[in-house]
Amino acid sequence: MNILVIGSGGREHALCWKIQQSLKVKKIFCAPGNGGIAGLAECVNIKADDIVGLLNFARDKKIDLTVVGPEVPLVLGVVDAFEKAGVKIFGPSKAAAQLEGSKVFSKDFMRRHHVPTAAYRSFDTYEAALAGLKKFTLPVVVKADGLAAGKGVIICNTLPEATDALKTIMQDRAFKDAGLRVVVEEFLVGEEASILAVADGKDFILLDSSQDHKRIFDNDEGPNTGGMGAYSPAPVVTAALWDEIGRLVIKPVIDGMAQEGAPFKGILYAGIMVTAQGPKVLEFNTRFGDPETQAVLPRLKTDIIDVMLAAVEGRLREVTLEWDPRACVCVVIAAGGYPGDYASGKEIRGLDAVSAPAFVFHAGTKKDGEKILTSGGRVLGVTALGMGVAEAIGKVYAAVEKVSFEGAQYRRDIGKKALNR
Ligand code: AMP
Ligand code: GLY
Repeated sequence: MNILVIGSGGREHALCWKIQQSLKVKKIFCAPGNGGIAGLAECVNIKADDIVGLLNFARDKKIDLTVVGPEVPLVLGVVDAFEKAGVKIFGPSKAAAQLEGSKVFSKDFMRRHHVPTAAYRSFDTYEAALAGLKKFTLPVVVKADGLAAGKGVIICNTLPEATDALKTIMQDRAFKDAGLRVVVEEFLVGEEASILAVADGKDFILLDSSQDHKRIFDNDEGPNTGGMGAYSPAPVVTAALWDEIGRLVIKPVIDGMAQEGAPFKGILYAGIMVTAQGPKVLEFNTRFGDPETQAVLPRLKTDIIDVMLAAVEGRLREVTLEWDPRACVCVVIAAGGYPGDYASGKEIRGLDAVSAPAFVFHAGTKKDGEKILTSGGRVLGVTALGMGVAEAIGKVYAAVEKVSFEGAQYRRDIGKKALNR
């Protein structure tokens, strides 16, 4: 089979790496890809949001299956365009991707289908939101409705902070039209975990759990980022809790979307807060997580193409997933200054010194002749497997120390929460 992967980050490198292991796969293309993906796939210069360009390419090259990494093309309707043209693609339709594309849709949907989540109200004017704010106790969480590259969520400890957040989102339009509406919600206390499920519109299978590390600094300090590391499985998700999340969260979403005429196919990602009252949904994503994918896929033994094809063809019932019992830890190495301004074009050294069971997924890199240069905020995801999380942590940090570039920064405590349990 010929496969096209859409996207250019660490998640897409991990997807290409896993797809390449399938005996069914002859060739992988990645649009647009990165410096690391170029070693596994032919990178093609088409942007992830160029739906027409992607479809023309898939037809031209007789692509048998297209796999969508990021959310933007999903929300723009890439799956609808491909399906209309009769070209196979793994991901949710535009209507189903609203679970990620609109927080108002997602919260209202959860209310309709009794999915546990933080209490909330939504507003479509600044004045109404300001008045509505008074009904909440502090701290309170203010969220832009639309896609904001992970930056549209503001946790507010005081009323002036909350007022500022509303102003930033709704009046200054810091996230453009994503801020036409807001969700204001109750602040939840607990430990977070990510649960991913693969779905075919009617049936679903849960993947093993994982945990992201969203803040830039150790001990969850500093501003939010796209994710500074992840590990799988996450012991906060006990076997009983994993079942409960399947029953109370994933099943009502898959059933509810089908009932509402937008059956969900692809990856459903539930960001969960494990609270004293049980699991509650923080957000849905309608795609693989980044960097969770880098920690989850190395543990998946099943051929991922078989799983994706079964999902696309509505036969997920035939599939079971097999997991490597080892733990996997991924440490992101970011450019100095990230998540603020950062420099690009720094030469990366030591990549060849990393060997199995550690490997490096590239996130923001590009090839320049024989050199690999930095080209993004999150640059690399160094990943290792080990018998238990302690061993995986030891191996991953030994590998991290072999790699270097000017200004590199990374957290030293990825996986620590698992050790504390
Ligand atoms: P989201 O993009 O909705 O997942 O929000 C980003 C991050 O903000 C989450 O990973 C949480 O750490 C935090 N967050 C979002 N909503 C809440 C909430 N209701 N209570 C506490 N933290 C939250
Ligand atoms: N790791 C969070 C995300 O993929 O959105």
